[in-house]
Amino acid sequence: MSKILIIGACGQIGTELVLALREKYGNQLVIAADVRENCPDIIANGPYKKLDILDRDAVREFIIDEKIEHVYLLAALLSATAEKNPDFAWKLNMEGLFTILDLAKEGYLKRIFWPSSIAVFGPTTPKVETPQQTIMEPSTVYGISKLAGENWCSYYHSKFGVDVRSIRYPGLISYKSLPGGGTTDYAVDIFYKAKEGKEFNCFLSENTALPMMFMDDAIRATIELMEVDQEKVKIRTSYNIAGCSFTPKELTHEIQKIMPNFKISYSPDYRQEIADSWPDSIDDSVAKKDWGWSSQVDLPKLVEIMLKNVSIPV
Ligand code: NAD
Ligand code: SER
Repeated sequence: MSKILIIGACGQIGTELVLALREKYGNQLVIAADVRENCPDIIANGPYKKLDILDRDAVREFIIDEKIEHVYLLAALLSATAEKNPDFAWKLNMEGLFTILDLAKEGYLKRIFWPSSIAVFGPTTPKVETPQQTIMEPSTVYGISKLAGENWCSYYHSKFGVDVRSIRYPGLISYKSLPGGGTTDYAVDIFYKAKEGKEFNCFLSENTALPMMFMDDAIRATIELMEVDQEKVKIRTSYNIAGCSFTPKELTHEIQKIMPNFKISYSPDYRQEIADSWPDSIDDSVAKKDWGWSSQVDLPKLVEIMLKNVSIPV
């Protein structure tokens, strides 16, 4: 069995990915790593390593010494935070990727997962059912870094045979850990306000449609793509996957079916421009054809699960 390292393990995706991979492969084979000093309780059921992905020597030493074979590289600045700190976003989102790609090129790693995003698309991309291959002119530093990263992954695969796999995640919605600075975060925050019985002030306008997905679907997609035979992975930039697309208004209506008194107001801020540059919905037919991907959670189910499980911190 391969030893697995998840870098950026304390974040929204990492937390759930660590739990899912430990469930599948056992706690000891799945090492959680993050720049944070302390391991959160939720993933304290297995090994934890404090590791800064920007410390190239430390990362190399750890991966080589521990004989790690698979890496999931999740550490990054997300879209909204990246716009506030473009230089650092570029550094963090790119340098760590090269460290990991180079280790695979040198033969230390057998397989890499690196996530991309719907942010690789831009204002000139067809917005509805955005195809796998289309116009890609992102207008955010985050999108530029993800598009560059996708192309570097593809380059390392074709030139050096590196087995790197990637998914363009939509906005992810979860209740086990909080989101970390994205434009789609409103679709998580809204459930906390609904559960508290408070009005939600949304930072996007009511008719802003965005591609979204419940975390269980995203984790399943990630593990399925990592487990599929090499020859089925035909896209080495990154795969489109789709869950459900909705606007804040549509999400509110769905919440009101269960909580009729829930109220929303709108105060769009700088994140509106980011959201306006992204697709409304995604065509994931290539992922379906190549490795059998299929989402399972639609909007009504997502709302039901979130309202049942979101717990307000005391
Ligand atoms: P997050 O912000 O919740 O988590 C990122 C984690 O990386 C944090 O725990 C942080 O402490 C850690 N980190 C930051 N700097 C680090 C460093 N120097 N060294 C090691 N760890 C460091 O992000 P997330 O939502 O879990 O996203 C993970 C990946 O998935 C990112 O690449 C992101 O771009 C991508 N993605 C996320 C979404 C989403 O909706 N969550 C959508 C598309 C793509
Ligand atoms: N959810 C992410 C963000 O909003 C998309 O990559 O940044």
